[in-house]
Amino acid sequence: MYKIIESFSDYSHFKKPTVNAHCGYAFPKYLSLIMTFCIFFFLGYNFYQYYSVLIWKGTLLFQACNKNSPVVWVYAEKTTHLQHVINIFEQTGYVAIAGITPPKKWDVMWSYTFPFLNNFNDLLQKLQPHQKVNHMPGIGYLTLKVYLASLKKQWIPEAFVLPEDKDQFDLRVQKFPNKSWVQKSNNHRGIKIIQAKDVDFQSTNSFIQEFVDQPLLVDGKKFDIGVYVVITSVEPLLAYAYSSEILVRFCKHNYYPFNPEDTESYVVGDDYLPVSEMPSLKSYYNQFKMTVHDSLFTYLYSIGYNSQKIWYEIKRCIAEVLIEKQVTMQKSFTGFLHKQNFFELVRMDFIIDQLANVWLMEINMSPNLSSEVHKLNALMYEQVIYNTLSLVGVASHLKSQFSELDVASSDRDIMFATDQCASEECHSMCLNKCRLCHHCLSEDMRMFLKKAFREHNNKGGFARVWPTVLNASMVQNEFQLSESNQILFQWFKEKCARNDYWCF
Ligand SMILES: *[C@@H]1O[C@H](CO)[C@@H](O)[C@H](O)[C@H]1NC(C)=O
Ligand SMILES: *[C@@H]1O[C@H](CO)[C@@H](O)[C@H](O)[C@H]1NC(C)=O
Ligand SMILES: *[C@@H]1O[C@H](CO)[C@@H](O)[C@H](O)[C@H]1NC(C)=O
Repeated sequence: MYKIIESFSDYSHFKKPTVNAHCGYAFPKYLSLIMTFCIFFFLGYNFYQYYSVLIWKGTLLFQACNKNSPVVWVYAEKTTHLQHVINIFEQTGYVAIAGITPPKKWDVMWSYTFPFLNNFNDLLQKLQPHQKVNHMPGIGYLTLKVYLASLKKQWIPEAFVLPEDKDQFDLRVQKFPNKSWVQKSNNHRGIKIIQAKDVDFQSTNSFIQEFVDQPLLVDGKKFDIGVYVVITSVEPLLAYAYSSEILVRFCKHNYYPFNPEDTESYVVGDDYLPVSEMPSLKSYYNQFKMTVHDSLFTYLYSIGYNSQKIWYEIKRCIAEVLIEKQVTMQKSFTGFLHKQNFFELVRMDFIIDQLANVWLMEINMSPNLSSEVHKLNALMYEQVIYNTLSLVGVASHLKSQFSELDVASSDRDIMFATDQCASEECHSMCLNKCRLCHHCLSEDMRMFLKKAFREHNNKGGFARVWPTVLNASMVQNEFQLSESNQILFQWFKEKCARNDYWCF
């Protein structure tokens, strides 16, 4: 076991190397001098080899095992809020090194902030194939509020960027004069409800969004649902939603009678009521030991809501939002040597209204994974992290992933039992129906399908949302998919046709 020691002053974990000079045999003096030198050189060199990467920036990380342990570089000034992340990395055999300059050798970078803006861009563009980073270039197109709100989708409340969209906004107000609005600025976290006449058109860098004013309430309280989503590739798109557990947060004050001044009644913040304290839900959670996900959806079902449909709509929303943003996000990967070095864990926050419509409120990059205040979240956070690391392959101890003999996903694993590929037709030309044949797939695509194969086998509590949730006719009619997205979609479809295990 290893520990994080906060400063250099604590050396108690090191044993002083002792050299026994009594060999019962009198060496000439110069010989013993040379030998002593050699021994110290040997010890010193080994020490350097084994521990140099572990001593870094005032943080000394001591590990009693060997230099082959993988290293996670936790890029953060302080690590107190990342304790669950570090725990899980350590439990899967990693040495965690925290700080703001890169250690000499690292396998995974876990950064709390977006790492591409500062001087790491060069470093991140030229990673080795096995190195992984927990953020993606271009993720801002998904997570910045203004970009998300400007998506015209049925799950996203109508939004207008000011002052550009003032005319459209006026038209909307004419049509629905009694609507309430939320004016959000890009820098501000807080929100407040206003009427159309109170909108500040002078404020730049802000946008105004329709307020979902009839939220579904439990025990009179408004709540939101946080779903953890992992994107493991942008081109082609491959994404999963954590289905075993969700974050459910209730407002502290009753929603009705509605009072715009009382933000505690309609803004879900850090200070919230958990499921375990809600009269209608706590027996499911506390007594029957259900998950938060099951406690909420079992209750909603009991009061007449179609829980399955709500959950399906959430997954469908995730899939459609991601595929819409995929084209833009993908452009940010220009200049990156390996496009598969990156993954992203986000939390998507949803609200359900009284008609059971699902609304996507925001997408958080670096979701809060600290259970300091809400201790009951600890298990979920660690499970989300563990399943994420498994999914993206960094919790795997197989070294073969980048070698010829990849035991977890071989060239044969991604092929289908079909005689189509052997047909004259497919042999002479790579027509559409032949494109999954070995000789028609590019090297990159084969590597990618093997990645998809591995991820599927390691997805644990995650369910794939893209490609999958949508049916094929929808995908063909509504989205302009790139060639690689089409191949991936078709590949999963063929897999699923042969075995249910591959369907989601
Ligand atoms: C808006 O509210 C006013 C007063 O509260 C009411 O008279 C009017 O009918 C409402 N308009 C619509 C379209 O609901
Ligand atoms: C995480 O959430 C808790 C409350 O749930 C809050 O106290 C804490 O400040 C948050 N941490 C970060 C880094 O946002
Ligand atoms: C696919 O989805 C569309 C839209 O939801 C629906 O109209 C259609 O019936 C579905 N087709 C199948 C085969 O499920």
